[in-house]
Amino acid sequence: MKQITSAADLQAATTQAKSQQLTIGLVPTMGALHQGHLSLVERALTENQMAVVSIFVNPIQFNNQDDLARYPRTLEADLQLLADLEHRLSTLAPTVQLLVFTPTVKEIYPDGTPTEVYHFGPIEQVMEGPQRPGHFSGVATVVRRLFDLAQPTRAYFGEKDFQQIAIIRSLLDQIHYPIELIPCPIVRADDGLALSSRNARLSPAARALAPAIYATLQQATEMAAYEEVDDLRQWVLDTLASYHLINPQPDGLCFQPEYFDIVDALTLQPIASWDEASAHGAVGCIAVWLDGVRLIDMVKFTD
Ligand code: PAJ
Repeated sequence: MKQITSAADLQAATTQAKSQQLTIGLVPTMGALHQGHLSLVERALTENQMAVVSIFVNPIQFNNQDDLARYPRTLEADLQLLADLEHRLSTLAPTVQLLVFTPTVKEIYPDGTPTEVYHFGPIEQVMEGPQRPGHFSGVATVVRRLFDLAQPTRAYFGEKDFQQIAIIRSLLDQIHYPIELIPCPIVRADDGLALSSRNARLSPAARALAPAIYATLQQATEMAAYEEVDDLRQWVLDTLASYHLINPQPDGLCFQPEYFDIVDALTLQPIASWDEASAHGAVGCIAVWLDGVRLIDMVKFTD
């Protein structure tokens, strides 16, 4: 494993790898790594001859400065987790090179805050889009920069951020880079909660309550056989919003759902009937506030 902090050094390393026809897998992250991130890295390491993991807290995708300031930064622990994973995979993927790119903000944005703006049409006007103005343009800006530097054959993204995958798919269409986008399934804790660096901010009581989000989503997938889309959508929102009334919680803990939408998996547009999503599948995406922490999750209704 090699740590690289300079953009020029990363580009030189990947240019050399390309000249030797090596395949390169890129895993962009903001650090505070957990098993969800590591599942992406594992795939990149086993499906390519070089893997690049970037760790960069991208300031321009935060529309809330407090969230940016509070974002966990755990570089030493992250590097240790990656070294351990590389060691564990060394018999499976003995020749693969792992580069960990840990740039400063100046290294990624040498000319100051970039002014480029990306537009994604209807896919950014739903779910996370209205809640987080400028977020996806900031994600696209940094991911394009990482594509330029890492020159990947494949890029790995988690389905936890389902809308982000659609944004990257659209970005690739717009910039015509021949990169294969690899969506990877959500990794969950044993109790079902989707792993997220934000989970660490939950109090013990909130952490104990949080698995009810996925339990509710799972129940919804079973009800999809006989419920209409709109009724099911409302049921999920009501079930979580009233959860504390049926299951009393300490300290006034309760779920505050921000949105739950059942959408076409490719266009991300809300569907009115299950038939509408028959071509691409239907997914349910949710954002819920709990204990001052915003949690997101998603389930697939049909494939
Ligand atoms: P970050 O939140 O660090 O996530 C990095 C990648 O890990 C994303 O593709 C995300 O979907 C994936 N991931 C997070 N939790 C996961 C889980 N429980 N299971 C599977 N995959 C999971 O997403 C970002 O960073 C940034 O927006 C980034 C793309 C790096 C651009 O700055």
